[in-house]
Amino acid sequence: MSVSLSRVSFEHHRVALGIGESSPRISWRFDGNATDWEQSAYDLEMYRSADTEPVLYSVNSTESLYVPWPAEPLKARERVQVRARAHGKSGQSSTPWSDWVAVETGLIDNNWGEAVPIAADRPFNASAPKEPIYFRKSFSFNSTIQSARLYITALGVYEAELNGEMVGDHVMAPGFQTYNNRHVYDTYDATNLLQSGDNAIGITVAEGWFSGRLWSFEGVRSRNFYGDTVGALSLLAVTFKDGSTAEIPTDVSWHASTGPIRDSQIYDGEKYDSRLEAQFDGWSSPGFDESERDWVSVKQLPPLRGELVSPDSPPVRRMEEVKPQSVFTSPSGETLIDFGQNLVGWLRLTVSGPEGHVIHLRHAEVLEDGELALRPLRTAEAYDTLTLHGNGLQTWEPRFTFHGFRYAQVRGWPEGVSIEDGITAVVTHTDMEETGWFECSNPLLNQFHSNVRWSMKGNFLSIPTDCPQRDERAGWTGDVHAFGPTSNFLYDTAGFYRSWHRDVEFEMRARDDDMIVPPIVPMLPPGGAPENGFGGGPTAIWGDVAVGNPYNIWQTFGDPGMLEEQFAQAQNWIDKGIRRAENGLWDRSTFQFGDWLDPVAPPDSPEQATTHPHLVSDTYLIGMTALLAEMADALGQRCLGQTYRQRRQEHIQAFYDAWIDEDGEMANRTQTAYTLGIFFDIFVEEFLDSAKSTLRELVAENDYAVGTGFAGTQHLGFALSRADGIEEFYRMLMRTEVPSWLYQVVMNGTTTWERWDSLLPNGDVNPGSMTSFNHYAFGSVANWIHQYVGGLSPAEPGWKTVFVTPVPGGGIDHAEATFVSPYGRVTSSWTVDGQGFHLKVSIPPNSRAIVSLPNGEEEEVGSGHHEYHVPA
Ligand SMILES: *[C@@H]1O[C@H](CO)[C@@H](O)[C@H](O)[C@H]1NC(C)=O
Ligand SMILES: *[C@@H]1O[C@H](CO)[C@@H](O)[C@H](O)[C@H]1NC(C)=O
Ligand SMILES: *[C@@H]1O[C@H](CO)[C@@H](O)[C@H](O)[C@H]1NC(C)=O
Ligand SMILES: *[C@@H]1O[C@H](CO)[C@@H](O)[C@H](O)[C@H]1NC(C)=O
Ligand SMILES: *[C@@H]1O[C@H](CO)[C@@H](O)[C@H](O)[C@H]1NC(C)=O
Ligand SMILES: *[C@@H]1O[C@H](CO)[C@@H](O)[C@H](O)[C@H]1NC(C)=O
Repeated sequence: MSVSLSRVSFEHHRVALGIGESSPRISWRFDGNATDWEQSAYDLEMYRSADTEPVLYSVNSTESLYVPWPAEPLKARERVQVRARAHGKSGQSSTPWSDWVAVETGLIDNNWGEAVPIAADRPFNASAPKEPIYFRKSFSFNSTIQSARLYITALGVYEAELNGEMVGDHVMAPGFQTYNNRHVYDTYDATNLLQSGDNAIGITVAEGWFSGRLWSFEGVRSRNFYGDTVGALSLLAVTFKDGSTAEIPTDVSWHASTGPIRDSQIYDGEKYDSRLEAQFDGWSSPGFDESERDWVSVKQLPPLRGELVSPDSPPVRRMEEVKPQSVFTSPSGETLIDFGQNLVGWLRLTVSGPEGHVIHLRHAEVLEDGELALRPLRTAEAYDTLTLHGNGLQTWEPRFTFHGFRYAQVRGWPEGVSIEDGITAVVTHTDMEETGWFECSNPLLNQFHSNVRWSMKGNFLSIPTDCPQRDERAGWTGDVHAFGPTSNFLYDTAGFYRSWHRDVEFEMRARDDDMIVPPIVPMLPPGGAPENGFGGGPTAIWGDVAVGNPYNIWQTFGDPGMLEEQFAQAQNWIDKGIRRAENGLWDRSTFQFGDWLDPVAPPDSPEQATTHPHLVSDTYLIGMTALLAEMADALGQRCLGQTYRQRRQEHIQAFYDAWIDEDGEMANRTQTAYTLGIFFDIFVEEFLDSAKSTLRELVAENDYAVGTGFAGTQHLGFALSRADGIEEFYRMLMRTEVPSWLYQVVMNGTTTWERWDSLLPNGDVNPGSMTSFNHYAFGSVANWIHQYVGGLSPAEPGWKTVFVTPVPGGGIDHAEATFVSPYGRVTSSWTVDGQGFHLKVSIPPNSRAIVSLPNGEEEEVGSGHHEYHVPA
């Protein structure tokens, strides 16, 4: 019997360095198998630099999540050490003290000292790709350094170096935000990178999302959405052992140059000339001779448009590496590498060859006729080049681009190091903590689950994107609405979504406060251009992300603070953003994506689904109104909750008039229409049974093939389960013919696809112009897999109570799911054999579970290990 604290955290930060909250709420997770353990009180100890000994705060509370900061608010740049311990109910043990954990604020007073944004003072063509700029400055200190912090951001994406060493390990920093609204800066501990005496700082900045090429609509290339230059803003703040301080701000005393990174763009790739390295040797170290190259002065830029804010989300990092699985020659004679995994990142090369020799790298997700299939990338070049310096072995990787690929084509690989030894794929994504796992006895389903995870990795790079490879990579709101619950299981998305929903909120207010959630966030072009077709009106499902995602985030993390923060956008969307007809439902003149990409929609008209787009939209309106009511209740606004419940009833009335006939039949007899009717509780009692059998019939009539697009797919399994059709849904899930989830697996997919048939059964790439092999939306079925096969879901917000409800089926005889909840590790593991059904459950301290067995028995239990057997 044991209980201890496994993690103490502040707000939703993985590492609380440079945070924006002055009174960060504190949470802890538990480890250990103690039975029925519940917290009754906790102690916090805090050590502020002014204190000679820690101050103790004791609180009688059962809360272990988001407890209030007990002390004076933190000042800017203040660092405090905190530890915690928890006490059980009477007779139960207490935890030992946790380790000390540091929390430190960023520049929350907005005092950037003398720092100003700077750009190179040189002529350039803003309409063309902008060369990355190297900024540098030398400086010196005479005192011994106690601590140092670098606060930094860029008009573009940056990397910083101090005395020849990289500062931190972020990539594509500061990520992508609605820069006109808020501009993230990062905080690094630079203490060990500085020295008494002479020092130098260097910052490299490329266009990135800020001023690079982004978005192509109907082939028209666009750039400079947030500015037409690249620039840097940083403040190096140093404290010396003697108590004195110094600051090195970006200002007009810096110098700038272009350098070996000749060109670096997100879509088109990076061009690197290592012959220029000779002129850059030691450029971020003291004593560097600037005369070898044309270093120019810098000019001060106007203040950033967006408010400087510290990050909510973890940064993007290099997360793992993948070695070539095979290297082969294509029919046309090209050298191709297969990494065996569709991934997002870039290639790292270790190579030597003659000076000036150029290696060309192209990237693609699939092959067509044995060659790289570049067409699905549309106008994105995904093309890197490395020009060798000729002085022996060198290691290089691009720094300000990323590609979505499984295959790479290498031209000009020199003799010497083999490609297998010299090339590695580097995988990058936002560094969220992995929290959810699933495994079962069916290898195809396991591969599918791996594909879902890989599509999440590839598309959680700073913002939630639809795809990571072509000239798009935009924050499509409908995709993330569909995938939200799955993402919340696989990784701790709290900080990531907190960040992105700030941008959702901004975009809703960006155009005359019309509260319309644009189809992509950040919106491109910023503010929206009506002529681009997507910029104008509100759309269901996509816009409904402002309700659905906050609801799901609340269910997963149980954070009332974030719920309150995001409730405003949910309410504004429902009250003001949605354009309504007189009957309160969606205005039929609005454009709707509807059940986008349903499997029988024509390849080039994904919106021509078999279910009427406004039928779909109206079901979501009813569903979102219900969620809004529940959120209002949770925030203590019961009158408001009642209002929305009432409104939902009125919408259901109107829905009957519009879409359901007197026999209870939907206007469209489709999987999606019946799924949504059942899932959103729209059918009245008298029609419910027949609706349930209709859904089961529809599925059987379709030979258990999926018939749903973006609107229906995420809810199909849940609706069928409510319709006593779990067995039917297992048949759909296990199906391998197109359209189905496992079709992608038997076609060797290693990520989930945009279309059910992105690869056609004959192995050809789907001819549609939108054919991505890395889209997460249809992977949303993993939410059902986690809940029904694995058996885990939250019964109360934050997983305070857990539902354990595995339902065996589909020929699976073993499955296991693990989730690191806000309380600790939850597991469910079952087998079926000749003796019957056996289930092992593990529930963390301070939480409970409701366990339902396949024979209908149900039991509520506290923390600890529990085992169940249902005889055959
Ligand atoms: C709980 O964990 C402790 C130490 O890890 C172990 O000795 C003990 O057997 C476990 N108890 C149960 C009920 O699993
Ligand atoms: C907490 O509860 C204990 C036991 O009931 C009581 O002795 C103590 O005074 C309480 N502390 C506070 C701060 O309320
Ligand atoms: C600037 O770049 C654009 C786009 O490449 C090009 O069309 C234009 O001719 C360039 N202007 C000058 C003055 O070079
Ligand atoms: C460090 O000391 C030197 C020599 O005494 C002096 O010239 C210089 O100004 C000092 N630098 C700083 C930053 O105090
Ligand atoms: C769906 O229902 C609407 C409204 O009755 C109808 O206009 C439309 O043709 C139906 N769509 C299909 C594909 O049957
Ligand atoms: C899938 O991979 C296997 C093994 O490499 C291969 O034999 C098969 O042809 C591939 N199928 C497709 C559709 O590419």
